[in-house]
This record gives sequence, structure tokens and C-alpha cells, in this order.
Amino acid sequence: MIRESSWSDHSDSEGATFMEDIMRGRGTKQDYIDLVAQHFFMYEALEAAAERVAEDPAFAGFHVPALTRMPALEADLVALVGADWRDRIVATPATAAYAARIREVADDAWVPGIVAHHYTRYLGDLSGGQMIAKLVAKQHDLADGGVEFYDFSALGSIAGFKNEYRAALDRLGAELDDAERTRMLDEVRAAYAFNTAVFADLGRQKAAA
Ligand code: HEM
Repeated sequence: MIRESSWSDHSDSEGATFMEDIMRGRGTKQDYIDLVAQHFFMYEALEAAAERVAEDPAFAGFHVPALTRMPALEADLVALVGADWRDRIVATPATAAYAARIREVADDAWVPGIVAHHYTRYLGDLSGGQMIAKLVAKQHDLADGGVEFYDFSALGSIAGFKNEYRAALDRLGAELDDAERTRMLDEVRAAYAFNTAVFADLGRQKAAA
């Protein structure tokens, strides 16, 4: 249900010019670095939100330590930007709004809302993200570091994990009434819209550079 009702939002995100350029091999190494920097601000908020509800039984199926991306992101930023990366990266307005929304949902300890953001990012990283990693690693010669973010080998089989994740979504969905399901679906669509807006910011930033 989530997938069906948000697939057009997925297409908008996937089809954003900035993302499409990366997928077609037209992106520069700087484009990729700018994207990694935005991921830092997103996952800082997302993983703090997940920690916040880690003990909540409704979140149990989603709280998988091997998903945690912050250490990999920091290692990628050291490799791509340098040891002083933290002083050299800035959230775009859309990224700041995205992180603020995640923090708002976390402050309410609204588990289906946190799962909506969790699903949109991690299932994406485990799907299209895997293709992005292969492409940019080859194109920009990142064998020495920069794509650890996409390395989920600690999860075991990605396909197997995605099935378990979808089963956890089904269990959560079974506990929700119609109004709450609609609210959760709206949050998934909002999460996609934030991602699309981040690509638009990065595209504008690139055009202005
Ligand atoms: C060029 C960019 C992208 C490509 C090529 C791409 C490709 C794909 C593909 C092929 C799948 C299906 C995988 C499967 O059935 O297991 C998928 C699923 C997914 N993608 Fe993307 N994607 C892209 C961008 C994004 C973005 C920007 C997001 C959100 C941040 C995203 C979030 C998701 C999610 C949540 C799913 C899982 C849908 C589900 O099965 O419930 N993707 N993507």
C-alpha cells in the first residue's frame, strides 16, 4: 500500500534533474560530494529519531543496528572532503526543512511517522542507492573511500532484509486504524517531496556556481 500510493512521488525524486544527471554519468565528483553532505544532515536527524523510539515495541522490527549510517557517512566525508569536513558542509534550505520535520515527528515520538521517514530513506539506499554507489565509485574512482554509506554488507542479504522490513511494515500497518494509515502515507509522500526539494536545491546551487 505504501509503495503503490507513493510510487509517483518516487518517480519525481528519481527523475529530478540533479539525480538523473548522476544516474546518467553526467554528474561531477563535486555533485556527489554535495549529495553526501546533505545525507549527513538527514541521517543525523533520522538516526536520532530512531534512537528516541528504540525501546518502543512498535519500533522493534525497524531498530536494526546494521542500518546505522552515521559512522559510514563520517568516514565518507573524511575521504571526500578532508578532516575538516564538518566546517565545510552546509545544509541546503530543503535539507534543513527535512531534518526539522524529522525532529518534529521524533519530538512527538510518533512511531508511524518516524517509520515513514525511515522507510523512505533506508529502503531507497538499499534499492536505487546500490546502483548509485556502483556508478559513482567507478566514475569517480572511489576505491579508496567515499561510498561506505551504501555498504550494507553487515545486513547479510539485501533482498532478504527488504522482505523482513516489508513484513515489519505489514505488522505495524495491521495495528493502525485507517486515519493513522493515511497520516503515515502522507508522511511518506512528504519525505519523498523533501528529497526531491533537496535535489532541486542542489541543482540550483550547481547552476549558480
Ligand atoms: C536515480 C535514483 C533512483 C533509482 C534509480 C531508484 C530505483 C529504485 C528501484 C529499482 C526500486 C525497486 C527496488 C525493489 O523492488 O526492491 C526502488 C525502490 C525504492 N526507492 Fe528508489 N530509486 C531512486 C531514487 C530514490 C530516492 C531519491 C528515494 C527516496 C529518498 C528512493 C526511495 C525508494 C524506496 C523507499 C523504495 C522502496 C519501495 C518499496 O518497495 O516499498 N529512491 N528504487
